[in-house]
Amino acid sequence: MIILGIETSCDDTCCALLEIKRGKFRLIKSIVASQANLHKKYGGVVPEVAARAHVEAMIPVIKEVTGQHRSKIDAIAVASGPGLITSLHVGVETAKALSYAWNVPLVKVNHVEGHIYSPLISRRGLADLKFPAIALVVSGGHTELILMRGPGQYSLLGRTRDDAAGECFDKSAKMLGLPYPGGPQIGKRAKHGNPEAYDIPRPMIDRDDFEFSFSGMKNAIRLLVENMSPPLPNGASLISPLVLRGGLRGNYADSRIPDICASIEQAIIDVLVHKSLKATDKYHPKTFILSGGVSANKKLRKTLKHALPKKTKFLVPDLSYCMDNAAMISVAAYHQAKNKKFTPYYKLTANANWELV
Ligand code: KG4
Ligand code: ZN
Repeated sequence: MIILGIETSCDDTCCALLEIKRGKFRLIKSIVASQANLHKKYGGVVPEVAARAHVEAMIPVIKEVTGQHRSKIDAIAVASGPGLITSLHVGVETAKALSYAWNVPLVKVNHVEGHIYSPLISRRGLADLKFPAIALVVSGGHTELILMRGPGQYSLLGRTRDDAAGECFDKSAKMLGLPYPGGPQIGKRAKHGNPEAYDIPRPMIDRDDFEFSFSGMKNAIRLLVENMSPPLPNGASLISPLVLRGGLRGNYADSRIPDICASIEQAIIDVLVHKSLKATDKYHPKTFILSGGVSANKKLRKTLKHALPKKTKFLVPDLSYCMDNAAMISVAAYHQAKNKKFTPYYKLTANANWELV
């Protein structure tokens, strides 16, 4: 079986071709046309700009990926939510048009489910995922702990009540005058800093549930940055004139930046790891999945891997599949495609708020 995957839920135009032979995956091709440079000057994703860029990139990206395999495609998988509605529409409408024109069935995939399956892209197939499993999905839009009792059987253990962990990385980076996306920028500088240098709160860490809150942490970071004495050379508030003027250059060489970055990174990791272990203690999963853009953070990967019980299999995507991509959409669609759970093209609509559970 060959599944064409399409993903346009945020600011990357993604397309992939996955072959499944006797249950084993082989990624034929995967392209991510990144818009990061377009959005950099705004310090975040501008939905209208993203949608236009998707429209321009979509067909060339699909042509490049499908190439001579066009006639061998058995199913088209598309992420139809959650995400930015204007961006989702481009992928969904393209998938519907292709389904109609090529007479190939459609599978709708939840973007979060795509992230959950992303560690399997470079593995042997679905067999690597043993149930029950727990997934911690951490990205720019999500921080969720999900229990999986079997394929497609999800229950939500807890999620963020406000900002996502990736958003906390991104907004903190913006306050420090670092470019978007902020997670990798903070991670890079954190390596040279002292994680205990600044006291950053770990909201909800002591609560007896699996809920998160990163908005309070973000505010504490804002106060820390705004009250630095002497002020940071390019320290910026959330609506910094520097950011608005697109002037994210500045001097990142201030000697306090690595310590601030290391302290922010540590606070976010502490909360994520603490709640993950609590969920593991309660549900004894056979597999623990860490995925979503923030799973690219090396310290988070390392800390969680070492903290989990040895008997729990730890699955994490290759670095190239942590961020949004379409290979994860194809992998997540496989179970449905195998069971012929298709959606007719005329019934599929994008759903910006589609909750997996
Ligand atoms: O999954 P993703 O590409 O898009 C969403 O679905 O949101 O995740 C993007 C998020 C951004 O917030 C970005 O700052 C964060 O992932 N991120 C990281 C790292 N690489 C990307 N956060 C921390 N450390 C990283 N190395
Ligand atoms: Zn994502």
